Amino acid sequence: MTALRGGPPRRLAESGATPALTGKVVAVTGAARGMGRAHVDACIQLGARVLMIDVLDDLGSQAAQEHGSHVKYTHADVSDEHDWARALEAGLATFGRLDGLVNNAGILLPKSMADTTGDEYDRVCAINQKGVFLGMKAAAPILRDNGGGSIATSRPPRDWWESASASLIPPASSPYAA
Ligand SMILES: NC(=O)c1ccc[n+]([C@@H]2O[C@H](COP(=O)([O-])OP(=O)(O)OC[C@H]3O[C@@H](n4cnc5c(N)ncnc54)[C@H](O)[C@@H]3O)[C@@H](O)[C@H]2O)c1
Repeated sequence: MTALRGGPPRRLAESGATPALTGKVVAVTGAARGMGRAHVDACIQLGARVLMIDVLDDLGSQAAQEHGSHVKYTHADVSDEHDWARALEAGLATFGRLDGLVNNAGILLPKSMADTTGDEYDRVCAINQKGVFLGMKAAAPILRDNGGGSIATSRPPRDWWESASASLIPPASSPYAA
């Protein structure tokens, strides 16, 4: 997200400048823990209100409570188009607008290719690939009607893809690299 390129949020806050995301609303998927939770915290420090999306309802709700009225948690499986519609509607009902989406939800299946079933492979692709597509598809019209916005996607670092192209995929995670 462009607004985060200026450095860690704490440094921005200490600068005394108006936080870059003041007045903005950002939806973050996979928001209940890990990198998604860090994205939520960063957006809040930059002045945004955040729609947290995840399937881990206990963790997500607890995190949202800690942030108070700046944050709403909603359950959605990013591989489900209807869940996307419901989630973004819930965010609009609460905050009245949407300015950005962080497509962060993803799963890592710790199995070799030989041990991975077709259904498991489909599930990884449904979340890590189709989930990103569905998120962009659901958010884009709202952002367009809003006059613009930003969509960011968490992805593995470049050396993963270079490993994949060189057939050096870490052996316990081949569906992820696909
Ligand atoms: N951790 C890393 O080093 C790293 C590096 C590069 C990219 N990534 C990517 O960043 C993202 C987050 O990684 P992480 O390490 O924080 O993972 P994590 O497993 O800690 O968190 C992933 C979150 O996504 C949620 N999630 C999983 N399936 C979902 C679904 N169907 N619908 C909605 N939410 C779902 C989980 O409940 C969880 O809260 C992933 O997409 C991962 O591929 C991670």
